[in-house]
Amino acid sequence: MLEVGELRSGYGRLEILQGVTLQVAPGTIVGVIGPNGAGKSTLLKTVFGYLSPFGGRITLEDQSLIGLRPDQILRLGTGFVAQAGGLFADMTVHENLQLGGYGLPSRHEVARALDAVYEQFPRLRERRRQAAGSLSGGEQRALALARALVMRPKLLLLDEPSAALAPQFIDEVYATIQALNRSGLALLIVEQNVEMILSVAHRVFVLDLGRNAFDGTPAELRQTDRIRRLYLGDRQGASRAD
Ligand SMILES: Nc1ncnc2c1ncn2[C@@H]1O[C@H](COP(=O)(O)OP(=O)(O)O)[C@@H](O)[C@H]1O
Ligand SMILES: [Mg+2]
Repeated sequence: MLEVGELRSGYGRLEILQGVTLQVAPGTIVGVIGPNGAGKSTLLKTVFGYLSPFGGRITLEDQSLIGLRPDQILRLGTGFVAQAGGLFADMTVHENLQLGGYGLPSRHEVARALDAVYEQFPRLRERRRQAAGSLSGGEQRALALARALVMRPKLLLLDEPSAALAPQFIDEVYATIQALNRSGLALLIVEQNVEMILSVAHRVFVLDLGRNAFDGTPAELRQTDRIRRLYLGDRQGASRAD
């Protein structure tokens, strides 16, 4: 569904991604992990058109996304939830969701799309007149997800959906992610919470210093000593190596 090939990208003349390659098959959850500063957010921002790549390929169902704007990429069926969520704290839940539908052709279609989203997120319907900033951390994360779903994407890009959430909310967000995936949505998820993403992903890519460091299934990753020590806090393995 999504193919990223030898992608190079960055800020100004600073090249952060130095040839990253990854694929997302239809209906799968793909995780991207790696240390801080590896270029994970830069990868998602480039796929979604916020950054223009210096080189390489990005295709969605064989159509190139290079040179397209985020609103065009959104219309092709790819949604993006940024690391901070991007909610408007002073606006209501309903108003935030309406913004997610700004690309739809009529108010009627926005209303229909919001109805469908409220079916999936009944607690957001209950809180539709509340300010987004008054929701719990978990509900805010659900709202950011729901807003991206208003445009009915086939592929969703998520930047650290578990960041700064209490553990019970992390479980809720991931239960939602898995339910969305079971209904056919493909997801490309950047995560610091390695155990969480390994528990749901079909395939995992490790980025380090703007390059691919590993890719395979979560089971394969767990069997790769070097990667396991680096990313799974395998203290036993680390002390054996010392
Ligand atoms: N707006 C920016 N301008 C310049 N450099 C940036 C900007 N955003 C991120 N970077 C740099 O790009 C590198 C990768 O950042 P990022 O993609 O956010 O990493 P990750 O998400 O893996 O932690 C870091 O060295 C960071 O300092
Ligand atoms: Mg990041």
